Amino acid sequence: MNSSEKVCLKDLRVRLKDKEYVPLMVGGMGVNISTAEMVLAVEKLGGIAHLSDAMVMDLCDRLYGTSYSADKAKRYYGCQKNPDKSNNHFDLNALREATLRYVGDVMSRATGRGLVFINCMEKLTFNAPHESMAVRLNAALDAGIDGITLSAGLHLMSFKLMSENKRFREACLGIVVSSVRALNLFLRKNKSLNRLPDYIVVEGPLAGGHLGFGEDWREYSLETIVKEVKAYLAENHLDIPVFAAGGIFTGGDAVRMIKEVGADGVQVATRFTISKESGLPDAVKTAYLNAREEDIEVNHLSATGYLMRMLKSSPAIKQRIPPNCEPYGYMLNEGKCPYLNQWWDAMTKKAMPKPEEWKCCLCTHMKLYNVWTCGANTFRLKDTTVKLANGQWYFPSAEEIYNDYVTSTGEEIKLPVPH
Ligand SMILES: Cc1cc2nc3c(=O)[nH]c(=O)nc-3n(C[C@H](O)[C@H](O)[C@H](O)COP(=O)(O)O)c2cc1C
Repeated sequence: MNSSEKVCLKDLRVRLKDKEYVPLMVGGMGVNISTAEMVLAVEKLGGIAHLSDAMVMDLCDRLYGTSYSADKAKRYYGCQKNPDKSNNHFDLNALREATLRYVGDVMSRATGRGLVFINCMEKLTFNAPHESMAVRLNAALDAGIDGITLSAGLHLMSFKLMSENKRFREACLGIVVSSVRALNLFLRKNKSLNRLPDYIVVEGPLAGGHLGFGEDWREYSLETIVKEVKAYLAENHLDIPVFAAGGIFTGGDAVRMIKEVGADGVQVATRFTISKESGLPDAVKTAYLNAREEDIEVNHLSATGYLMRMLKSSPAIKQRIPPNCEPYGYMLNEGKCPYLNQWWDAMTKKAMPKPEEWKCCLCTHMKLYNVWTCGANTFRLKDTTVKLANGQWYFPSAEEIYNDYVTSTGEEIKLPVPH
């Protein structure tokens, strides 16, 4: 037994700003997979967990009975047949209002023992990338979020867009990267702001959601990128905690990543997809639990242009629906979205992409939980819980999963006890 096999995450600490935490973050999972309930359950334990602001206006409609999506659809009524969506815009005041409401509500329920962060993906361009990002970031800060993790993009402007906010230096701000190159670009671009990120998430090729790699993703290893990022930070005399993400399935994996590879902490997500508090419908959690390794693929379905990992049985892979930009349109950029373009080419020129190149209407399908995105280790979820007497899977609570991560050592997974 080597020394890291006796250690558990609960024995370790990472410093963020002036406080120390168990070095485990639960990553953001949009759209509303990492729910307020999941995040608050972890925060209550003194942990760190991420909300996601993906489709926040539509989420508010579902949570609070607002009508942002219906109002937007009404504004663009009759435009469905026009492939040019350059005039399709979000009401940025409404976007601010929705973000304030959602984040404010969650923060009002936090205990202050842990940290509530929010994941902001740059690839959600809202047909006005800079303007909408400024609103999202500043509203989250104004609503009292503890931290913002910038993901799915290089975010070269994002720090600047919130630099006038009075909480810009006080809140925790982090960036997700998959290479030293991306980190270097980010740091160089922000040098003049004299504001370093408080943490860096290095996401490797085994993560769920979108991947920061191309077709050759199998050739990369999280361990190597973490070591490269740590070496880069050391060379540049930068003391910023690095969280490794992607494929860290047990407490023992997390400890090894910290003790043997050199990360300061880890970010995990896949284990929490089947939690009681996860926003996924029970049937989807069951599909994750029954999945075999060969049921998972990395494909081109996402209209972001990034590769995405998901179950091959995801309904969105087969369903070709008309683009739904009137109520949604979160993926539009200068009026365009790769799915929109494919759809209109197919309708007007009968130009059909190869089946493996089809995109999907990501807004609609993510909202409906039709994209069953997951990490590479999803097929191991069945080893993390038990079946009930009625033959159905027991969905462990976020607290049970969190406690297993922080107390297990070596290869151990502590199975939950249904009650
Ligand atoms: C279901 C699911 C949805 C995700 N959604 C997002 C997202 O919206 N934004 C993001 O930056 N990362 C997203 N991720 C990535 C996670 O935040 C996390 O970094 C990664 O999955 C960790 O690896 P693991 O799932 O193997 O533990 C998602 C992951 C999963 C499993």
